[in-house]
Amino acid sequence: MEKVKFSQLWIEEEQYLREQSAQLQDNSIAVEIGTAQGGSAYILATSTNAQEMTIHTYDISPSKEAHNNLRGIDCIVFHAKSSVEGAKEWGMSFDNKIDFLFIDGSHTLENIFHDFLLWFPHVKEGGVIAIHDYDPVHRGGFAHLGVKVCVDAILNLNALVETEHIGRIIGGKKGCSVTEGEFLEQCYYSWKKIGQKVISFRQFSLDQCNMIGEEDELVSILRKLKGATGKCLSEPPIRKENKIMVLPQPFSKSTFQFVSENKNTILLDELTFFYLLWELLLNNRSEVIQITQNKRDFFKWEEILEMFDHANSIEKVDDIFEINTTNIHTLSQICARELVRVNILKNIFLSMTGGI
Ligand SMILES: C[S@@+](CC[C@H](N)C(=O)[O-])C[C@H]1O[C@@H](n2cnc3c(N)ncnc32)[C@H](O)[C@@H]1O
Repeated sequence: MEKVKFSQLWIEEEQYLREQSAQLQDNSIAVEIGTAQGGSAYILATSTNAQEMTIHTYDISPSKEAHNNLRGIDCIVFHAKSSVEGAKEWGMSFDNKIDFLFIDGSHTLENIFHDFLLWFPHVKEGGVIAIHDYDPVHRGGFAHLGVKVCVDAILNLNALVETEHIGRIIGGKKGCSVTEGEFLEQCYYSWKKIGQKVISFRQFSLDQCNMIGEEDELVSILRKLKGATGKCLSEPPIRKENKIMVLPQPFSKSTFQFVSENKNTILLDELTFFYLLWELLLNNRSEVIQITQNKRDFFKWEEILEMFDHANSIEKVDDIFEINTTNIHTLSQICARELVRVNILKNIFLSMTGGI
């Protein structure tokens, strides 16, 4: 099947939506948060065999293209409003329960939290909920940190069960109901776990540890600063080894298989990688001068990092992920700030190493 030009989805994600739509029965109701150019709504509408199916699509800032792209498709109902407004009105305007819910609107923790919380009660028992931008596991939330925190909480609460993770979509059946309080508590817990992962990697020795992945310049610096003695392997080893770490790069088929068969494999995700590198460079100045090619290089790293930290007011990972809040708005703001900071840092690193 060809990719739909105006959809923002990956080809395997489009396929997932096609399969979900093909399973819908006559008179089904699908709701989508985030119309954009109408790509996902088009896929849902054109892959079903159900008679009298309706797709309600919501967008806070609807585009003209969506109306053009979806012209003539009768089963689509446009709603030019926010997801929260839509969810509040749904119970008053429509009695029917939703068979398929696709959440692909805002990416802040706070918004996706409310999208899930407010739409969940309108989904039928046994209905399917799919959420977009839950990134592949090697990224660790690097691209959409708020979505990762929220979805990890949803999974911990068993609010979504029998799940599949296809590209950036996590989809499954509606599970246990959740209260706002327990949902918030779980979001806070999944936030804390991200920090705990950085702390545990900080202490983890790379002595005799082989890695799967490519040794680019940034990986090489991390390895030197952590005193790694193992090798970087482009393919997984044939024999089972004591210590194997997978680098934060997209998995090849063979790596994917190796990871699923060897549960003790350690996954160094991209988010953890950049936090670690950041800390290592700042805390090991005397070693940085030894591993960089020359003094000029060293000053480049040193000066840029110093400036970066100064501009951002240094806060240790331990403090950022240990904040004590019972407010989703505050947690969401901190989460968004960290996403921005770590992405800027990545771009600085890449520009220094010739990556961009
Ligand atoms: C990633 S795009 C959706 C892509 C689309 N589902 C597709 O696959 O082609 C996100 C869309 O969500 C909309 N959006 C953002 N926040 C929203 C909110 N709170 N309520 C409803 N829509 C929202 C944006 O205007 C944007 O068009």
